[in-house]
Order: sequence, then C-alpha cells, then structure tokens
Amino acid sequence: MEYVESHGAKIPAIGLGTMTLKDAVCVEAVQTALKLGYTHLDTAERYGNEAAVGEGLAGSGMRRDDVFVTTKVYWEQLAAADFARGVDESLKKLRLSSVDLLLIHWNNPQVPLKESIGALCKAKRDGLTRHIGVANFPAALLDEAVSVASEPLVANQIEVHPYLDQAKVVAACRRHGISVTAYCPAARGKILGDAVLERIGAAHGKSVTQIALRWLIQQGMVPIPRTANPAHLKANLDVFDFTLTDAQMKEISGLTRPDGRVVNPPHSPVWDS
Ligand SMILES: NC(=O)c1ccc[n+]([C@@H]2O[C@H](COP(=O)([O-])OP(=O)(O)OC[C@H]3O[C@@H](n4cnc5c(N)ncnc54)[C@H](OP(=O)(O)O)[C@@H]3O)[C@@H](O)[C@H]2O)c1
Repeated sequence: MEYVESHGAKIPAIGLGTMTLKDAVCVEAVQTALKLGYTHLDTAERYGNEAAVGEGLAGSGMRRDDVFVTTKVYWEQLAAADFARGVDESLKKLRLSSVDLLLIHWNNPQVPLKESIGALCKAKRDGLTRHIGVANFPAALLDEAVSVASEPLVANQIEVHPYLDQAKVVAACRRHGISVTAYCPAARGKILGDAVLERIGAAHGKSVTQIALRWLIQQGMVPIPRTANPAHLKANLDVFDFTLTDAQMKEISGLTRPDGRVVNPPHSPVWDS
C-alpha cells in the first residue's frame, strides 16, 4: 500500500467509504475489503454504521495497528461537551480505544471555531485519536481553523472527482501541508459512461472508476470510494500498476462542470467558487 503523509500522519493512499452501508452488508464489506488488502476505513457517527464497521474490523483478524480508521463528529455535536460525549460513543461503537483520524463533519457556524477545533485538539491530546482533521472546509474556513488549532490538522475531506473544480480549496490544503481525502471519487456513479474516461480507460485496460481513482492518486489525494460489491472492491484497489500521462491528467481535469457538485446539503458552507 502506498501512503500520503501529512504532519507525521501516514495515511493509506486509498480507503473504503462506508456511507449508506449498514448492518450485515457493512460488516461483510469491511471484512472483504480488509481481506483484499484495504487498510483504511472511513465511517462517521452520522452514517449509523460505526458498530458494523467495528464488528467487521474486530472479526477480520487484522492487527489494530495495521488498519487506519477515520470517523467524524457531526456538525450538530460540535459544542465542547457534546463533542466529547460524541467521540466516546463513537469509540464504544467502533470497539476501539482510539481512532487514527477524527474529523469535524461539516462546520457549524453557531459554534465558534475556537470551541469546535479546541474540542477536536483536546480529543487528540486525550489520546482518543492519533490525528485530527476537518471535512467540507472551504479555503478561508480552513485558514481560520489552522490559525486556532493547537495541534496539526492532517486532512480536509472534501468532494473531489473529475466533474468538480476544487482547485482553490486544494491549493489551501497544500499551503498548510494538509492532505486531501477525496470523497465521492466516482461522483456517486455519475462518471460511469463518460466518453473521455472510457477512452483513457481503454488505453490502460482499466474502467472509468479506476481512471478517476488513479487521477486522484496521482495528485497525491486519498480517494475513499464506496462499494460493497466484491468485484468493485477489488477493482478499486487495482489502480497502482499504471500511470496516466500528463496529457491524460490534463484532459481529465478539463471535465469539470459548473453543476458537478454532488453533495450540497442545507448546512453546507459557502463553497469556493
Ligand atoms: N465528509 C463528507 O461529508 C462525505 C460526504 C459524502 C461521502 N463521504 C465519504 O466518501 C465515501 C464515498 O462517497 P460516496 O459513497 O458518496 O460516493 P462514490 O464512492 O463516489 O460512489 C459510490 C457509487 O459508486 C459505485 N462504484 C464504486 N466503485 C465502483 C466500480 N469499481 N465500478 C462501478 N461502480 C462503482 C458504487 O456502486 P456499487 O455499490 O454498485 O459498487 C456506488 O453506487 C462515502 O461512502 C463516505 O465514506 C464523505
């Protein structure tokens, strides 16, 4: 497995997204993924599947230190007392004494960043997580978060795929040495059938999804595709044996669309234009 490094964190270069995977399907997907060679699992309190992810991990036979586990505290739980309670509950469900990466799952403008980022940093100092980060923070918010954080932020988990231009926030991450975790790397399936990705895929003997994942990996990002389908789990890991040319990278980057964003709930921040 390749890794992406940020402020001392060594993050496996691809992870398993688990949003929408529940109960036995989630347990099975986690165990299949770990058997296939995944070492990075992405969950969140909000997904309602931390217990299933924990069950899958516990039954996998993997050593705890060999799996990188990320969870997230939802934006409704960012006040200091709620935050601490939320992390304890997540760890209990996951059957872990600490996670590898704890993220703020959307900012909450009602809670001062000093308080939410303070609670996040405290969770790290208390040994409840090895590393900390944020999710869905646009560039200016990320700058502000970094300025109030007493511990390094190692990741910003944001939507990235060929149809969405995220250059501004990615540049902010780079400026701070913060890694980018790319969620919705397959734009939730919207890229399937894309003629450019299909043509480039044919040149490498790879699928459209594999091309999108490779495009992210070659930019030093960490995609976390979600699937419970064993064939897709295997295919999504099979993206380290080929290289996209500079021209192909550029062509894929040119696929951005003004309406490319997939995830845009009411509690979204003002996105970078
Ligand atoms: N921080 C946040 O706010 C946030 C927001 C959204 C997502 N996330 C995280 O990011 C993860 C990924 O995002 P997502 O689940 O929204 O979307 P996604 O991974 O872009 O898309 C998932 C869809 O892609 C399909 N797929 C996956 N691999 C495939 C393959 N090799 N070939 C064909 N189809 C394939 C899956 O279909 P099959 O099931 O048929 O394989 C599924 O329908 C989430 O699960 C979650 O962990 C975080």
